[in-house]
Amino acid sequence: MPATTFLPRRFVILISGLGSNMQAIVRACQQNACPADVLAVISSRADAAGLAWVQGQGIATRVVAHTNFSSRETFDAALAAEIDQFEPDYVLLAGFMRVLTPEFVQHYSGRLVNIHPSLLPAFPGLHTHAQALAKGVQAHGCTVHFVTPLLDHGPIIAQGVVPVKEDDKPETLARRVLSVEHVVYPQVASWLAQGRVHLMQDQRVQVDGAPSRLFISEHE
Ligand code: GRF
Repeated sequence: MPATTFLPRRFVILISGLGSNMQAIVRACQQNACPADVLAVISSRADAAGLAWVQGQGIATRVVAHTNFSSRETFDAALAAEIDQFEPDYVLLAGFMRVLTPEFVQHYSGRLVNIHPSLLPAFPGLHTHAQALAKGVQAHGCTVHFVTPLLDHGPIIAQGVVPVKEDDKPETLARRVLSVEHVVYPQVASWLAQGRVHLMQDQRVQVDGAPSRLFISEHE
């Protein structure tokens, strides 16, 4: 029987800013913790800090600046054209600050993944850490999920939990959530790369060999 050649999964990562989640995923791939190739990092802002870092890693970068487009539809079409040149298996949104059209989401159905800084379905949208503090929740965190046309919804792949402290401010809570994001997203990327993530008909997710997909922050 001929030996089967394992082809690494192909990722394209979309960012808008610092790109610390993107960096965590790229590092996991470089260190073989995640058997995938990051083919390109695409930013919606030319001044995204993450771009400079990724250029030093020998990974292709592109900028599709939303300010150059008069509508969401034309922006999304240009973005998809850039992404599709790299023929990715998965498109990972990592701090990508644009609302995507249903057409775009449909085009990448089952291949488009996002990280959101709250325990969804609580606190979709912006300012999640302030929202969490205002509600007095005792646990906050992050969610990695498949993207559906409804903003910050979609089948949950994994979550990271952070205890909320009495004296937390949005900034202190955000820091601890971000550090658990850097654990959860590379782990999900690795599961995706290994073909272990399955989106079931009932819109729930199963991951082979990972009955628990909950990560609890070790940071005090
Ligand atoms: C993260 O908190 C992410 O969950 C949210 O925006 C922040 C981006 O951080 N969507 P970075 O760009 O990955 O550093």
